Amino acid sequence: MSVARPAGYTTAQIILHWVIAALFVFQLVFGEDIVSAYRAYRQGATPTDAAIFDANIHVYIGLTVLVLAAIRLILRFRYGAPPAPAGESNVQKAIAHTAHAVLYLAIFGMPISGAIAWFGGIPEAGEVHELAKPVLIAVVVIHAAGALWQHFVAKTDVLTRMVKPRSDARA
Ligand code: HEM
Ligand code: HEM
Repeated sequence: MSVARPAGYTTAQIILHWVIAALFVFQLVFGEDIVSAYRAYRQGATPTDAAIFDANIHVYIGLTVLVLAAIRLILRFRYGAPPAPAGESNVQKAIAHTAHAVLYLAIFGMPISGAIAWFGGIPEAGEVHELAKPVLIAVVVIHAAGALWQHFVAKTDVLTRMVKPRSDARA
């Protein structure tokens, strides 16, 4: 996907990574909050005010992730991403690459499938959305563990470059 192999990420790319990560993890942890309102609507019942409130939070945060993901993808094409650290095995590269691809897919796929279920009233989309939860929890854990492993065990700059912008960064 990359169009360039710079030394690091720009400030905007870094901020977007961490804001999206925080919102995404929040959604995974508190996603159940929308389930009761969605079930009520599907059964033709009126959800409680509290259930509607919880559902709205899930919907708005999820749609925010979608907008931020679109900006992030544009920046990714514009500024690229740094190469894998020197000395990384092909297996490690494949795991990191696959995790990144799944996470990029998820920050678009989760809001879109959720919106199809919620606004389109298509329960199958909600089922796919729910089934993705355990898979995405596992991928986020592997991704975060990989970043910590790189920092503390392999002692590469992989975590630092997602904290400190590259020196020539303009955005
Ligand atoms: C970052 C984006 C999102 C993530 C990570 C996410 C995650 C989740 C999770 C973890 C659940 C609960 C699964 C469970 O424990 O049963 C859930 C349910 C649900 N979400 Fe999302 N969600 C996101 C965005 C959205 C958006 C934008 C909408 C609507 C516009 C939405 C609509 C729904 C609906 C309708 C359900 C209930 C599905 C059902 O019960 O079949 N989600 N979501
Ligand atoms: C929760 C703790 C997390 C940590 C410690 C973390 C750490 C990192 C680090 C260090 C990188 C840079 C990898 C490199 O330059 O080779 C990175 C990249 C990335 N992270 Fe995370 N991350 C976390 C959560 C997330 C979440 C929740 C998502 C998405 C839902 C995510 C999506 C991505 C993506 C797509 C990349 C690739 C960036 C690119 O090449 O454009 N991360 N992450």
